[in-house]
Amino acid sequence: MRNSDNMTPTIISIFGGSGDLTIRKLVPALYNLYLGDQLPEHFAILGLGRTEYSDEEFQDYLRKGLDEFSRNGKTKEEDWKSFQDKIHYLVSDIYDDKSYEDLSGKIQAIEKDWGVEANHVFYFAIAPHFVETVATKLGSHKLCSEKDRMRIVVEKPFGNNLESAKELNKLLTNIFEEEQIYRIDHYLGKEAVQNMLVFRFANILFEPVWNRNFIEHVQITGSETVGVEDRGGYYDKSGALKDMIQNHVLQLLCFTAMEAPVHFNADEIRNRKVDVLRAIRTYSGKEVFENSVRGQYGKGWIKGEKAISYRSETKVDPKSNTETFAAIRFFIDNWRWQNVPFYVRTGKRMPEKMSVITIQFRSVPHQMFPSETSEHMVPNRIVISISPSTGIKIRFQAKKMGLDMNLKPAEFTFDYSGLYDNEQPEAYENLLHDVMTGDATLFMRSDEVEEAWRVVMPFVSAWEKHQTSSFPNYAAGSWGPEEAEALIAEDGFHWITLTPE
Ligand code: BG6
Repeated sequence: MRNSDNMTPTIISIFGGSGDLTIRKLVPALYNLYLGDQLPEHFAILGLGRTEYSDEEFQDYLRKGLDEFSRNGKTKEEDWKSFQDKIHYLVSDIYDDKSYEDLSGKIQAIEKDWGVEANHVFYFAIAPHFVETVATKLGSHKLCSEKDRMRIVVEKPFGNNLESAKELNKLLTNIFEEEQIYRIDHYLGKEAVQNMLVFRFANILFEPVWNRNFIEHVQITGSETVGVEDRGGYYDKSGALKDMIQNHVLQLLCFTAMEAPVHFNADEIRNRKVDVLRAIRTYSGKEVFENSVRGQYGKGWIKGEKAISYRSETKVDPKSNTETFAAIRFFIDNWRWQNVPFYVRTGKRMPEKMSVITIQFRSVPHQMFPSETSEHMVPNRIVISISPSTGIKIRFQAKKMGLDMNLKPAEFTFDYSGLYDNEQPEAYENLLHDVMTGDATLFMRSDEVEEAWRVVMPFVSAWEKHQTSSFPNYAAGSWGPEEAEALIAEDGFHWITLTPE
């Protein structure tokens, strides 16, 4: 049996159909699911946008995007021909009721043609300030009235602070049931993030040592070489804390620190993640500055290319106080993690692109080898690489080959890319597949989003209140401001910068 045979017919309507996310991520993901036989037999994409496209023009536009952005390279004629027929377009204005009547009519016409009732997915690939209008109109036009087969997908940013996230949750849960709302964090669609659950909870080796008795500290780095590109308008109102830490980085922290769920199901896993967020220590204003560093890039060089300063980027305020780098020392106040520091950092315009979690273990309690045999004595370390390479490295001590007893660190390496025949799906493929099959495990529940905001709010408030005069404080192409080194050095550690292979 093909995978597609037992999938429910689905119509996915994309608000923001002619936008960047659709062309770069959503349609390539859907196309690759199609090539992998992971879409239902009856499937349609309905793009909605203001641009005046006919169906054919929209299809051509998407094909160009596929040729450029699909992980499978250029489209092949025979594949494209059968996929193309699934794509439709409606010129639409999100404020206009007629657009929703047209949408409803189109959905009914497709279902009539198929002779079956389909699942309806409404994807909000739109700027946050449009979400309220689209959600309200979907509600008033009864386009989401059946909870089992009608869903919405909401992109980040989910709110701009705790208060606005709460308001948005209130608005959405007044219109839809919580089970219908899929709040996306694309990091959760990454294979290596999902593998963390398997690594921790399907093996007996690691869990017994996964706690304060054996782990000295944890580091999470999410660094990027790119600057803000054409997103200056959005980014300048957001910054590294809201753009990366509130969501992606805290999600990685949750997967690292959570307790073992009883079952592999959406609510169990999300409950355990919420427990972690609730246990993260809340800092006072003074403590915020003792436990964090913010930065903004000036001009510099990255991989031999000149890079301009953040303040010179398009649509960025030339006097901007927005941070493009943030480093924070978190503590999780529970039995497992008491007093184990979790250092997180993220930044734009850094020397390497990488998302990496490092678990640094303590030294052995007693060193029986004479010091001259073990010049390189270093404690165990597990490095989980999320991207661009995906894999795990475990460092341990080994005997150096030879007649003498000499110790040297060695590594076990698990590399996803070389191990399996099937290619690694993109995060959006995993997530869209889950939305279609109704699996919310990898999506954020309302309380989870709010808890994540609660964690970052002391930093948001303190940083807003005390603007810094030190920006820019790191050169593009460096690992961030010197104060970030000092933050971790205070505890006797240093940032581990492993170049992905
Ligand atoms: C997005 C942020 O959510 O994640 C971007 O808005 C960032 O600023 C991106 O570049 C990073 O994602 P990835 O998958 O490339 O690590």
